[in-house]
Amino acid sequence: MSSKSFVLSAQLKRDIKQWMNKFPKGKQASAVIMALRLVQDAHGYLQDAHIDAVADFLSMPTIQAYEVAKFYSMYRQSHQGKHVLKICRSVSCYLRDADSLIAAAKDKLNINLGETTPCGQFSLREVECLGACCEAPCMLVGDHQYHYEMTPEKLQDLLSSLQAEEAST
Ligand code: FES
Repeated sequence: MSSKSFVLSAQLKRDIKQWMNKFPKGKQASAVIMALRLVQDAHGYLQDAHIDAVADFLSMPTIQAYEVAKFYSMYRQSHQGKHVLKICRSVSCYLRDADSLIAAAKDKLNINLGETTPCGQFSLREVECLGACCEAPCMLVGDHQYHYEMTPEKLQDLLSSLQAEEAST
């Protein structure tokens, strides 16, 4: 929890209020998932002060807002690169050698898990189950681009094409 304070903008308050109104009276804290998402979209990632402000606005225990923000991989707690590689390491992917994917990504990007390349283009994260266990091991680039039955070779090819794409822009 933060000692710094952050004030939600009028626009964010309006947007969060819209989500609060979708829930029954007394259950407005259920809007926390979207409220955190809106603040993250506005500020790039969630700082502790942002989470505190959301909890305060929703009149919910601060710890509960932190539990949501720290559990779901769609929330970011630090600046992320343009391409965020999320490699699943839950049981199905782990058993199908997700570790070799992580090793290949680390090697290709020369960063560790949780880090971003100095050029700001790539971040590497491990995440919990992506809901595609039958096609393990799998990974996600950003929030929507799934890659199934990955191998270190496929991952290196994917990174090479993303790097080439970036170099040409
Ligand atoms: Fe990796 Fe479910 S365990 S997608």
